[in-house]
Amino acid sequence: MTRTLNSAPKGNSNIVVLHGCAHNPTGVDPTDDEWKEMAKIMKSNDLFPFFDCAYQGFATGYLSQDNFAVRYFVEQGIQLVIAQSFAKNLGLYGERAGAFHLVASPGPGASSTVDRVASQLSILQRSEISSPPIYGAQIASIILNDPRPFIEWEADLLTICGLIKKMRKCLKEELDRLQTPGTWGHIVNQIGMLSFTGLSPAQVLELREKCLCIWLKLEGSVLRA
Ligand SMILES: Cc1ncc(COP(=O)(O)O)c(C=O)c1O
Repeated sequence: MTRTLNSAPKGNSNIVVLHGCAHNPTGVDPTDDEWKEMAKIMKSNDLFPFFDCAYQGFATGYLSQDNFAVRYFVEQGIQLVIAQSFAKNLGLYGERAGAFHLVASPGPGASSTVDRVASQLSILQRSEISSPPIYGAQIASIILNDPRPFIEWEADLLTICGLIKKMRKCLKEELDRLQTPGTWGHIVNQIGMLSFTGLSPAQVLELREKCLCIWLKLEGSVLRA
């Protein structure tokens, strides 16, 4: 990845899309040190980071840990944008709720950059969407701005994240118990909702026929755990 970043054309018209946490589809995130290395390369090559954040709180269970990469890039004074989805972490699937953030790099031009981007976005939104869905955004606004539901939401994220980890552990233990050929450590080492299994297309087709049984058994173990 660093080789690719280093060989990318320099200049801030070159956008690099990064998943903020719980990478889809691999479940493999860079370590904090690897993020730092990436920020260093992107800053020195003037590459423009576009963070796609759909799972904040689903990686470690903590909002403030799952946003390490974004916070670090901002601390380095790197100008960036973030497309943040609330579909998963607020359970607002189908409501199209999310947020777009622009963080201008610090300096005398920062507030003019923000104004110019905001006016472009409002033109785009007016011509493309006009009256965007409001219901999900209002729910998100209440949860994010009122301390009581916010605390409850943080606790819910920890619960769901714990459940995901338990499911991963149960699946690995069951595969080990059945002496399934291969190594399965990646199931517990990867994080978040998604996992890169390494299964072949033929194995996936086979699973499609049988996965219902595995799921029910797994759910049973989780409920007993
Ligand atoms: C990384 C990533 N970004 C964005 C999305 C979609 O977000 P939304 O449903 O809010 O458009 C997903 C998955 O659905 C995702 O995995």
